[in-house]
Amino acid sequence: MSTKRVIGAEALEDARQRGRNQFEVLPGDIVTAMARETAARIGIQLVDGPIEKPSAPVTDGATALRRGLYRRSPRWVTPQASKSTRPRRLRKLALVGAGGVGANIAHLAANRDMADDITLIDIAPGVAEAMALDLNHASGITGSRARCVGSTDLAMVAGAEVIVVTAGRARGPGMTRADLIDVNARVMRSTAEVIKTQAPDAIVIVVTNPLDEMTVEMLRATGFPRERVLGMAGTLDSSRFRNALAMAAGVTPADVTAFTLGSHGDEMAPIPSHARIKGRALSAFLSEEQIAACVKDAITGGGQVVALKKTGSATVAPAHSSIELIDHIRGAALGSVPVSVMLEGEFGIDGVVLGVPAHLGAKGLVAIDEIRLTQTEQAALNTAAEAIRTRLGL
Ligand SMILES: NC(=O)c1ccc[n+]([C@@H]2O[C@H](COP(=O)([O-])OP(=O)(O)OC[C@H]3O[C@@H](n4cnc5c(N)ncnc54)[C@H](O)[C@@H]3O)[C@@H](O)[C@H]2O)c1
Repeated sequence: MSTKRVIGAEALEDARQRGRNQFEVLPGDIVTAMARETAARIGIQLVDGPIEKPSAPVTDGATALRRGLYRRSPRWVTPQASKSTRPRRLRKLALVGAGGVGANIAHLAANRDMADDITLIDIAPGVAEAMALDLNHASGITGSRARCVGSTDLAMVAGAEVIVVTAGRARGPGMTRADLIDVNARVMRSTAEVIKTQAPDAIVIVVTNPLDEMTVEMLRATGFPRERVLGMAGTLDSSRFRNALAMAAGVTPADVTAFTLGSHGDEMAPIPSHARIKGRALSAFLSEEQIAACVKDAITGGGQVVALKKTGSATVAPAHSSIELIDHIRGAALGSVPVSVMLEGEFGIDGVVLGVPAHLGAKGLVAIDEIRLTQTEQAALNTAAEAIRTRLGL
């Protein structure tokens, strides 16, 4: 005898969290009005069940062998090794700018064995060379196979598969990221000139601020397709947002999934409607006021570090956030990730670089994930796009 289920909004939130876009409603099930409303809002289709289940896999020789080798249960087999999810080690990673962020990226990349060759380039004589030497000296302990090279010569980007650009000025106390626009745009243009001749097939990750504007500069000056010019900010802002939510809810950051979109600045758009704590909507743990405070903390996070440091801005979290993008490119991380890309009509926005969720791969941008946003979140994205257009005089 089948038991009647009452399907509430939470069951649908849980299904969405597990990546489902359909929910099976069996005869006799009661679906609450709130659940129907939630389904429409978060993009889950209610499907009259029972849904036909996929048939059992056919047993071939290879499956039988794997089953025989791993005798856990008659039905259990080792998962097929998937070539597409095996992380790729880069031949060459180039870092233009070996200051606070660039040096930390090099350190993380060397320790994670991400590339055969890590080349650091900095206009200031000795800076990149010293860092490369320091990292090579550490390899006797870390065992890193990466060979680090430092230079002042931008042409050393030649042959790099991924180039991370952190060259330029960082902001000081009282400065906004937009204050850096003129000086850093010149750095982007001169760097792009060399990249397009020496590394014409590279994927470029821009980190230099103001991020969205500098990504536009790099895109224009290299003439590369949008797939190969990405901006890093969303991974950092999302990490800051997750940290704030975890602190407020008294859980560990690993219990939190949340991301921010939009611009890297005052027009950042944290997306609470998709955020979860222990798989549940934020409202299960936090009040409206607490959520608003976490949003504010994510937006002002960079400024808080600048105010404390007095000279320069954050370096460690931005380096981890850049590594996260490289991991998506080389297949060491899966799913979508917030990244700044030129939009071509996605989310109703065209001709401006903005942080959006996207899938990355060996050739850069694979696809933008046009998730459902609330009206407020979409409005925040539109505001960010307008602000960038205004700053760029578009
Ligand atoms: N997108 C983000 O989320 C994010 C986060 C943190 C910092 N940033 C930005 O990243 C940039 C770097 O920050 P940082 O803390 O590493 O600054 P930093 O001052 O420590 O390092 C910048 C380095 O760039 C070098 N440089 C300047 N012009 C150059 C050129 N033409 N060619 C090669 N090298 C050049 C400088 O000599 C310096 O060593 C800043 O613009 C900062 O605002 C962005």
